[in-house]
Amino acid sequence: MTTTPGPDEIVSDLVRAARGLPVRRTPVWFMRQAGRSLPEYRALREGVEMLTACRTPELVTEITLQPVRRHGVDGAILFSDIVVPLHAVGVEVDIRAGVGPVMARPFRSRADLARIPALTAEMIPDIAASVADITAELGPVPLIGFAGAPFTLASYLVEGGPSKNHERTKALMHGDPGLWHDLCARLAEISGAFLEVQVAAGASAVQLFDSWAGFLSRRDYREFVEPHSARVLHRLARTGVPRIHFGVGTGELLADMAAAGADVIGVDYRTDLPSAVSRTQGQYPVQGNLDPALLFAPWDVIADQVRRILDEGAAAPGHIFNLGHGVLPQTDPDVLTKVVELVHEKGSSAPQM
Ligand code: CP3
Repeated sequence: MTTTPGPDEIVSDLVRAARGLPVRRTPVWFMRQAGRSLPEYRALREGVEMLTACRTPELVTEITLQPVRRHGVDGAILFSDIVVPLHAVGVEVDIRAGVGPVMARPFRSRADLARIPALTAEMIPDIAASVADITAELGPVPLIGFAGAPFTLASYLVEGGPSKNHERTKALMHGDPGLWHDLCARLAEISGAFLEVQVAAGASAVQLFDSWAGFLSRRDYREFVEPHSARVLHRLARTGVPRIHFGVGTGELLADMAAAGADVIGVDYRTDLPSAVSRTQGQYPVQGNLDPALLFAPWDVIADQVRRILDEGAAAPGHIFNLGHGVLPQTDPDVLTKVVELVHEKGSSAPQM
C-alpha cells in the first residue's frame, strides 16, 4: 500500500485537479474514449469478442493507448468492461454488440450467491499485466482504473442484461433485503479487489461507475446502495489514489455519492456544474460534463459549451473536463481532438501552480 504523496510530488494535472491542487491547465479525458468512435479501435476488434479483447493484455494496452496518442488527453482509462470481474470469478456473461452485457443465468435466489465467489488477484493476472504495460508506455500520463459499483453490477446480474426500468432489481431490493445486502456485499468485495489490483499494478486514479444509480430514489440509494459503494471507496482510500464516483442522472444523489467516500464527483450532463458544486457544499472537485450528443452540433456551438463548462468548473475546488456520459460510437474523433485542444488552450487561464 502506498501513502498519499505530498502536493509537490503529484505531477499530473489530472491527479492534481482531483486533489484540489492548482494545475498548469485544466485536464481533460472522455468516458468511453477508447472504443467505437476510433477507426483504429474498430480495426483491432475485427473478429475479436469484446471479453476476449478485455482479457488480452496486448489488445488492452493498444486500445487504451489509442485515444491518448490521437487526442492528447490527460488521462488514459483502462480498456475493460464493468462485467470483467464477474467474468473473472466465473459468472457466465457475454457482451453483445449494440446490447451490452447479457447473463446466461440471471441472479434469482440465495442459491445463486454460490456462483459469485470472491475475486482474488490470481484470477486476473492479465489485468495486472495490462496495467503494468500501459503505465510503462504512458510515462507521466496517468492511467485511470475503474470498476462498476455494486448496484449497477447487481442490476446486470438480476435483470440478466441491460434494463429500462430495473424492476426485478428493485423487487429483490425491497422484497428480500437480506439477500440484496448479501449480494451487494459480495459485489463490493469484487469491485474493491478489482480496483486494488489495478492500483497495485500502477493506476494513478480510479473511477467507480454506478451508471444506473440515477434510477433510484434518494431514500433507496441511501438504504440499499450507498453502504456498499462506501465499502468499495473506503477500501481504496488506503491506496492513496483519488477516487472519482460517477453515475448517470444522479443530480439528486450527488451529496450521498460524495459522502460514500469520493474525492471527485462525476457529474452527468443533466446537472450543471454550479448545482453540483452547491449540492456538495463546494467541498469536492468535479468532473464533467459536456453532453456527448452535442458533439454532433456545429463547432461554434460545441466551443461555446466547452467554454461555459470551463467557466463553471472554475468555481469548484478542482475541475477535470469530461463528457456527461460516454462518447457515442458515431462521434467524429476529430471533434474530440478539437475539444481537447480548446480545453487546454482556454483551461490554461485556470489558477496556476
Ligand atoms: O474508454 C473507456 O471508457 C474504457 C472502456 C470502457 C468500456 N466499458 C468499453 C466498452 C468502460 C469504462 C466501460 C464501462 C461500462 N461497461 C459501463 C460503465 C460506464 C457507462 O457507460 O456508464 C457500463 C454500464 C458497461 C456495460 C456495457 N458494456 C454497455 C452498456 C456496453 C455497450 C453495448 C453496445 O454495444 O452499445 C458495453 C460494451 C462496451 N464496453 C463497448 C466498449 C468499447 C462496445 C463493445 C464493442 O466494441 O463492440
